[in-house]
Amino acid sequence: MSVGNIENPVRFAYWVPNVSGGLVVSKIEQRTDWGYDYNRELAVLAENNGFDYALSQVRYIASYGAAYQHESTGFSLALLLATQRLKVIAAIHPGLWHPGVLAKFVATADQLSGGRAAVNVVSGWFKDEFTKLGEPWLEHDERYRRSEEFIRVLREIWTSEHAEFGGDFYRLHDFDLRPKPVDVPGRPHPEIFQGGNSTAARRMAGRVSDWYFSNGRDFDGVVEQIRDVRTEAALYGRSVQFGLNAFLIARDSEAEAREVLREIVGKADREAVEGFGSAVRQAGQAAPDGKGMWQDSEFADLVQYNDGFRTGLIGTPEQIAERIVAYKRLGVDLFLLGFLHYLEEVEYFGKRVLPLVRELEAEDRGAPVRTGS
Ligand SMILES: Cc1cc2nc3c(=O)[nH]c(=O)nc-3n(C[C@H](O)[C@H](O)[C@H](O)COP(=O)(O)O)c2cc1C
Repeated sequence: MSVGNIENPVRFAYWVPNVSGGLVVSKIEQRTDWGYDYNRELAVLAENNGFDYALSQVRYIASYGAAYQHESTGFSLALLLATQRLKVIAAIHPGLWHPGVLAKFVATADQLSGGRAAVNVVSGWFKDEFTKLGEPWLEHDERYRRSEEFIRVLREIWTSEHAEFGGDFYRLHDFDLRPKPVDVPGRPHPEIFQGGNSTAARRMAGRVSDWYFSNGRDFDGVVEQIRDVRTEAALYGRSVQFGLNAFLIARDSEAEAREVLREIVGKADREAVEGFGSAVRQAGQAAPDGKGMWQDSEFADLVQYNDGFRTGLIGTPEQIAERIVAYKRLGVDLFLLGFLHYLEEVEYFGKRVLPLVRELEAEDRGAPVRTGS
């Protein structure tokens, strides 16, 4: 496999804490707030500390350590209006939106923000959200069949003047969206990210998504997914960018950082973690090969909703920067980061970790381009 893109700088996104309880299911003190004032300040700080993207989460009801949740598309628009350069990705569920209505919303958000709106299509793990809203909960691979149509409809509406679509889930008849999203050079339409790591998710990414998001993984786990997604994408003459989740704990010494991780896991909200673990395993086991994204997660991994400890960005700024660049060499284009105390740690990241990443990248650019196995 060829290595990652050495020329382009690796990019960074952060998880918007628009859901209460932070990004870890733990009773440890978290100086992070899910409200708008905190998030507005955080978004501005993030764009001034090297972040290109923010990702809002979608959750409709209280569950597993998340008692309150702000709606993702509305909250994302508010953050777009509060910032200058940050691109904000709103997570959305096919099945709870009509893609035409979402396409319209995103076109407006894109117009209001000068071309900075994006979406993360998540196929869902939380059955109760659908059943409590009276909507059917489809089987795992059916959810992906619907998501794939959903993405095709978004793209059709955003890029054609007489949009037509005939699918099993959605239909369009000569639909003309006005205004279209902003015409940004190099971007045919608002970027489409997707969550999900099962076989069905990898195939969908190869066929239709611009970006594939992986849960936290070690080097081998990343290589395996990149290979699968690229293989599928090559069949369609496409390329897909790769984003990797990580819960980042940077401290002046490695011992301090490890101690924070120990405390997070030691103070885990056991009941909530176990409830979350059983819900996500059920969702993934419904995949025909049982390879949903949390299938091999241990208790400690599940304390972070998206296996973020497994990426291992825990240690000193030097250790973390080296690991980030090692992942980049394998093909990771973007890191999706979560933090314990957002305002403090986003700034520490920007001042202490990011400059080291850029130095290592500059060294790589000076070095001969390597090719992997
Ligand atoms: C980066 C990322 C972000 C996600 N965000 C959400 C979210 O905001 N809301 C949600 O219900 N699911 C979210 N998911 C989970 C997906 O809905 C899906 O259940 C999960 O990825 C499992 O898919 P799989 O069975 O294909 O592995 C996210 C997944 C990833 C990787």
